Amino acid sequence: MRYGYFDDGNREYVITRPDTPLPWINYLGCQAFYGLISNTAGGYSFYRDARLRRVTRYRYNNVPFDLGGRYIYLRDEECGDFWSPSWQPVCRELEEYQCRHGMGYSIIGAGYQGIEARTRYFVPLDENLEIWQLSVTNHRTSPAAISVFSSVEFCLWDAQDDATNFQRNFSIGEVEVEPGIIYHKTEYRERRNHFAYFACSARVAGFDTQREAFLGPYRGWDRPAAVERGAASNSIAHGWVPIGSHHVKLLLDPGETRQIIFLLGYHENPVERKFDPSGSQSIYKGTVRPVIAKYLEPAQAEAAFQALRSYWCDLLGTCQVETPDEHTNRMVNIWNPCQCMATFNVSRAASFYESGIGRGLGFRDSNQDLLGFVHMMPARARERILDLAATQLPTGGAYHQYQPLTKRGNDDIGGNFNDDPHWLIVGVAAYLKETGDWSILDEPVPYDNQPSSEQPLYEHLQRSFRYTLERLGPHGLPLIGRADWNDCLNLNCFSDTPGQSFQTTTNKEGKVAESVFIAALFVLAGRELAAIAEHRGLPQEAAAYLSEVARMEQAVCDHGWDGKWFLRAYDDFGRKVGSKECEEGKIFIEPQGFAVLAGIGLEDGRAAAALDSVRALLATEHGIVLQQPAYSRYYLHLGEISSYPPGYKENAGIFCHNNPWVMIAEARLGNGDRAHDYYLRINPSAREPISEVHRCEPYVYPQMIAGRDAPTHGEAKNSWLTGTAAWNYYAITQWILGIRPSYKGLEIAPVIPASWSGFCAKRKFRGTTYHIAVKRTGPGNRVSLVVDGVPVTGNVVPLADGGVTDVSVEAALS
Ligand code: BGC
Ligand code: NOJ
Repeated sequence: MRYGYFDDGNREYVITRPDTPLPWINYLGCQAFYGLISNTAGGYSFYRDARLRRVTRYRYNNVPFDLGGRYIYLRDEECGDFWSPSWQPVCRELEEYQCRHGMGYSIIGAGYQGIEARTRYFVPLDENLEIWQLSVTNHRTSPAAISVFSSVEFCLWDAQDDATNFQRNFSIGEVEVEPGIIYHKTEYRERRNHFAYFACSARVAGFDTQREAFLGPYRGWDRPAAVERGAASNSIAHGWVPIGSHHVKLLLDPGETRQIIFLLGYHENPVERKFDPSGSQSIYKGTVRPVIAKYLEPAQAEAAFQALRSYWCDLLGTCQVETPDEHTNRMVNIWNPCQCMATFNVSRAASFYESGIGRGLGFRDSNQDLLGFVHMMPARARERILDLAATQLPTGGAYHQYQPLTKRGNDDIGGNFNDDPHWLIVGVAAYLKETGDWSILDEPVPYDNQPSSEQPLYEHLQRSFRYTLERLGPHGLPLIGRADWNDCLNLNCFSDTPGQSFQTTTNKEGKVAESVFIAALFVLAGRELAAIAEHRGLPQEAAAYLSEVARMEQAVCDHGWDGKWFLRAYDDFGRKVGSKECEEGKIFIEPQGFAVLAGIGLEDGRAAAALDSVRALLATEHGIVLQQPAYSRYYLHLGEISSYPPGYKENAGIFCHNNPWVMIAEARLGNGDRAHDYYLRINPSAREPISEVHRCEPYVYPQMIAGRDAPTHGEAKNSWLTGTAAWNYYAITQWILGIRPSYKGLEIAPVIPASWSGFCAKRKFRGTTYHIAVKRTGPGNRVSLVVDGVPVTGNVVPLADGGVTDVSVEAALS
């Protein structure tokens, strides 16, 4: 069953009924001001940091699930009937409800009793505000008197404190009101120099800024008293709960359309210029007024929207493909890069499943996110790499997370996740291959943000590599520390205290538990580092890295192989995890996919055997589960993984992030059919027809789909913010379609399904656009290249000379 359809021409998903199985959301903003918006206009906004600069309030796990947002109410003055064109919160039965989620904008609206109303929500480029363009049309044969009420509920900035510290918060709320503009300035009188505003382009008949005055006692957002009676009360919030609501009266002739623009924004003043007049307590508005005036102008708002459209057109234009499969095309060309933008921007901080107060930016997460983002905006990728590296510790280890506002490592969680440092090498290598900007390696970057600890970025990579060499266990495999990629495999935790956090609680020092996954990651990162050293003219250093890599590969073969698949780990007692000898959790996906992806066992049959085992034991119609058999009970020595009921999350859920590792592994073995088959099993667009089973958005990946041990097998959870976005993009574009940036040029190595006759692609790479046509002339994966009409040996299109804008590439596959 579907709840809408893809409109690929407009790059939109169109939702045609509001009662989707879960809120289906979109992200507004892609630089500093962000908003989450659901298909019924629920959600919130924040500036840079979802915890520390929350602009509007949102209550998670609410009833109904998604309540609170950017609501507009319309009231028919004649009969007093009122409704919301976004369906929620009033929930009247609407005609022609539609929500169009597009690239950085959403348009939500509907008809009701002959009145059509739609709002386009978006964040203009380079501004810290969102524009709501509401248009109201009278389709009746008689004039209509309509009252419009807007509404937002302000957050008192720190979302954690806002949700808990009521004894203080109910006394600090402050606003200022000018005709058509509501300023939210809680705590501005003392240490803050920022405020929020909510402005309206039309002449207002009234306003409200105190929630209870607007809603009325014992009422919710579904029937505010002000809307019911058709009049605002011009309330001024002193303490309690500041909101913003404008009341506008419209008189519409038959066929007439009126547009009203609302702006919701964030603004900072210089500390020394906070007040006007100085010495007073009122906000200095000299710099914000021109911004507000500008975007309240319909022509300016429209121009800002068109600029956003062309920005996205350029971004997506970096890589466009035309294959025989519509799900591949749609995801590669539109939605997968859109999701990569969201994960790059907000990491795992703010979604409908991430509350915005928990995690900042993750070290391993953000480095992996670069794989799906770097080709679109290399300059921002560069900045991110330097920020991440600056949170690395002198040991080569890393803070697991950092707060985006302060860019400082997060002490609550600390470090000792022993995979973390290697992801920096993986991220930097992706950046270098894409851009050829070797200068980044010489950038001075501090450790732990400490002044005068700066060393070239290259040294950070060296320390990352050494970190593992200094932490090897009894089998010569890397010690796992707190956890590796699988945050829930806590082999040194031994937590038996209810409620204790598996993520932050103190672990044993841990000199025994080892990770085969980190060993594979070390091999991959070590090879990347060797290639980088080689390029820097350090062949001996490169050779030294490769000999450590060879030693690790040997250790994996000697101690990390279980006969038919790779082992997962050794626990604190030195016993195997992920082995046929185990009672449960005999085989895990991560080491199979990652070892082969890293090139281990390609020649000796281990890789093929491991992938056959994955197919036989882990693959389901909804994707590949994380391990089998699921843990049926809690194992003190394994930690959080066994805390989940079977089939969910890390305990044998389909953890979508690691499925593309297997796709890449299959591609490395030349199995295009298998690789693409796995790709389609979790592809959201391919799953659209079973939306009632999948339940999450059909246009972005979820983190997890319930595995075969769960009663809800096939049900997705935790959409949007997941490493799945970047890894799937990387797997399909670079390994299945095989268009792969390399140091020497664009490598063309497709491993596509046997039934495909070929495909076309347009890929911008280092300033040149490559027009690639792949044609199958035989059943295999052997590539013959013709570049601008001239045959080229090998499968790398040499770098174009400076100034060459377009290159044609014909690739025959045989
Ligand atoms: C989740 C993991 C996640 C971790 C992050 C755990 O509860 O299962 O997927 O990586 O929390 O803190
Ligand atoms: C989600 C976390 O963000 C990521 O860092 C981790 O690797 C996976 N869960 C697996 O536990």
